Amino acid sequence: EKPKAERLSVEQEGKFTEDMKSLFEKLKPSEASGDRRRRFLEKLERLLNREWPGHDIQVHAFGSTENHLCMIDSDIDVCIKTSWDGLKSTCYLAARLAKCGMERVVCVPGAKVPIVKIWDPEYQVACDMNVNSTLALDNTKMIKTYVEIDERVRPLAMIIKHWTKRRVLNDAAGGGTLSSYTWICMILNFLQTRDPPILPALHQRPHKKRPPINGVDVSFDDDIETLKGFGHNNKETLGELLFAFFKKYGHELDYEKKVISVRHGKLLSKEEKNWQYLQNNRLCVEEPFNFTRNLGNTADDSSVRGLHLEFRRAHRILSEDADLATVCEQYEFP
Ligand code: CTP
Ligand code: MG
Repeated sequence: EKPKAERLSVEQEGKFTEDMKSLFEKLKPSEASGDRRRRFLEKLERLLNREWPGHDIQVHAFGSTENHLCMIDSDIDVCIKTSWDGLKSTCYLAARLAKCGMERVVCVPGAKVPIVKIWDPEYQVACDMNVNSTLALDNTKMIKTYVEIDERVRPLAMIIKHWTKRRVLNDAAGGGTLSSYTWICMILNFLQTRDPPILPALHQRPHKKRPPINGVDVSFDDDIETLKGFGHNNKETLGELLFAFFKKYGHELDYEKKVISVRHGKLLSKEEKNWQYLQNNRLCVEEPFNFTRNLGNTADDSSVRGLHLEFRRAHRILSEDADLATVCEQYEFP
């Protein structure tokens, strides 16, 4: 299948950018929902310190609660920080939370990062928590910094996240597709590789080195005051960018050979990373900090084929009539 159109017409582009702006306004979470999240976090910290006094237990939110890309139905990701070993057993933590009124409590002790999932009926929020897995706080800070550099990043990323949810492409654990985090890395790399670029590669810029955490270098340039305005030479509108995003991943990226790297701000080759023989390496997205990890490995070959068709579908609809609502139509299982 050939790409239908190289670019949008002026009228299409204008209408489409307006549609994106109004969709973005609808997707932004209300102040009330931000309040509920904050109050839940305070309650959780109080509750943990009441149950296990004297251990200075801190609750840190990460993920979309902190990176400016929160949607109305986003869960709250939490890292519990404590020097006390007692909370290492996630199932012990889970059992106590259930006693304290939390519902739908599940512990997942065997995962790469063991977590506890809960639902708080009081504030009506779902929460995933880990204990002392602090890398997530650092990679969240990185995303937050990227989002703050250029004002197009937030609406574009929120709309793409919305599209992934409506098209059922956002379920790494259950659906064999991709997590929001992986999607965000694909969006950031797309913006790093525009000509001229809209985003820099924060890891490649001069910055203060911080001590590694568990052998992982967690430093990057986070000096937002000097970073703001980096993308000003690029004049692309939201409509042009979304169109180009679907075109790139639907028609231009060489999935066979390339690795998407936010750390380097460009595409790398599978050879240079020695990723030719990894399992599920059809779509390669390098984790920016733990760069031996392929975030794309939650999607197998047939899943990546499905993703590819979805990019092409979106690109085709936009080149035909620039209708954002149709692009984001809820996917119905046949
Ligand atoms: N994370 C990670 N490695 C992954 C997936 C997630 O380190 N393979 C961490 C990242 O810190 C990410 C956070 O978990 O920011 C939350 O991931 P996710 O829920 O996928 O992204 P959100 O931005 O929270 O999006 P959503 O609103 O869909 O929850
Ligand atoms: Mg989340």
